[in-house]
Amino acid sequence: MKTEDNLKKAFAGESQANRKYLAYAERAEKENLPGVAKLFRAAAAAETVHAHKHLSVMQGATTTRQNLEDALAGEIHEFKSMYPQMIADAEAETAKQALMSFKYANEVEQVHANLYQKALDLMDKLPVEDYYVCKICGYTVAQEAPDKCPVCGANKQNFFKVD
Ligand code: FE2
Ligand code: FE2
Ligand code: FE2
Repeated sequence: MKTEDNLKKAFAGESQANRKYLAYAERAEKENLPGVAKLFRAAAAAETVHAHKHLSVMQGATTTRQNLEDALAGEIHEFKSMYPQMIADAEAETAKQALMSFKYANEVEQVHANLYQKALDLMDKLPVEDYYVCKICGYTVAQEAPDKCPVCGANKQNFFKVD
């Protein structure tokens, strides 16, 4: 059936459009174009509605345990196979900025895998904690931001708290 493949493609496309529009909104804000920024954020929110609808049609009603297992498998795939290959390619092609971007993501996906594994182990015993994310590399940490990011070396002011 084509539809299953189409749902996957549409989910990927809508998800990308969402992140792209949010980045474009930030850029518009910097260019002092608040009306354009707001339009990008509105369209981004709508693309999220589309993406979530496609995903729920694809997956049906999955449980949180299944979702954690899926998330863990995705992170493991990224740091064990996807990013190592991309890092090797970027090195071979001396694509320095891409190399740095892949390396940061690669390290942080390992951290995400550990966090998801812990969540799977603890489930309802997982404490409700504050999480902090490094805006340079995405390093993700519970409780408190470190003085210095262990992945990219950025200082504490570069961490934002997740709502
Ligand atoms: Fe859309
Ligand atoms: Fe991740
Ligand atoms: Fe960082």
